[in-house]
Amino acid sequence: MLIISVFIIGAVVADQSSSTECPAVLKAAGVSDMFAPMIAHSVHSLTLEDIRYFFDADATEENGVPTVNMDLFSDTRVLPNAPLIGYDDDFSTMGMKAFDLVMRNMNRTWWGITNYNTLETLLHAYHMAEIWDKTAEKYKTVARLLDPESEICACMTDVENNDVLNYMNLLAFKIRYPGITSGNKTIADQYIEQRKRRSAAYRIAYDLSLQAAHFRSLDFDGFDFDLPDVELLGDIAEKLVDNEEVISQHIDSSEHWEFWKNLIKQGMDESGFYDLAVFLFCTLN
Ligand SMILES: *[C@@H]1O[C@H](CO)[C@@H](O)[C@H](O)[C@H]1NC(C)=O
Ligand SMILES: *[C@@H]1O[C@H](CO)[C@@H](O)[C@H](O)[C@H]1NC(C)=O
Repeated sequence: MLIISVFIIGAVVADQSSSTECPAVLKAAGVSDMFAPMIAHSVHSLTLEDIRYFFDADATEENGVPTVNMDLFSDTRVLPNAPLIGYDDDFSTMGMKAFDLVMRNMNRTWWGITNYNTLETLLHAYHMAEIWDKTAEKYKTVARLLDPESEICACMTDVENNDVLNYMNLLAFKIRYPGITSGNKTIADQYIEQRKRRSAAYRIAYDLSLQAAHFRSLDFDGFDFDLPDVELLGDIAEKLVDNEEVISQHIDSSEHWEFWKNLIKQGMDESGFYDLAVFLFCTLN
């Protein structure tokens, strides 16, 4: 709390005004240099209902929080706003609402997350809710200290230039085409064929890695994410390799749960929650 205040106040009084100064502005505000991939991972499945519950009861459909389109066949990979998802309000807890959403869609192909089994999809939903719950505390602190008109917020919300949209697009590719950044080029060739045939026979599981160790600083120079998937798959497989492997241990036993449990517990450190709180506050205000 004290450290956060010092960071924010220090950065507000510093006279920074150009967006080329953003890395320095954000660093002075205590934002980690890996904030872009971390934010992409942490908000990709956020819904408007989640925003209203965890962060801002008055948030609208024009909330500005980019998310991965749950419709994985759509040409629109990344949505400009977190969408209204339609939780069943007959349920009162977020847990039941999330459970219902997963179960209602469990037999839909090309929707949500590829090739997780139902338990893993539920785990993903609860895991994200935990991250948002922990971020909500930090959000309150940030809201007291940070000015939405500040240079910090201008830099955080400049998602076109601060790599948040690039990492969000890349994440959409990883969800649609598991293993695409693993360094195995054969995988890309297979996906290009499948996508051309618009076949849904994707049989590889995506690794829900939220480990900070997995976040690499990638160079998106020359990538135009406005191009269709088939035109980008080859380049992504070649140039954006982060060795993210396809997951092999499904949750089918208490032993394998240990593996997943460690994975999600290592998920995010304190700086991640802070970065996310700053990003959401700046975007929603
Ligand atoms: C629905 O999905 C579940 C879990 O993947 C599967 O076991 C079941 O066979 C599917 N049911 C139908 C009718 O497709
Ligand atoms: C690369 O992926 C293909 C297709 O999934 C697989 O058959 C092959 O064994 C993989 N190669 C390596 C070196 O892992």
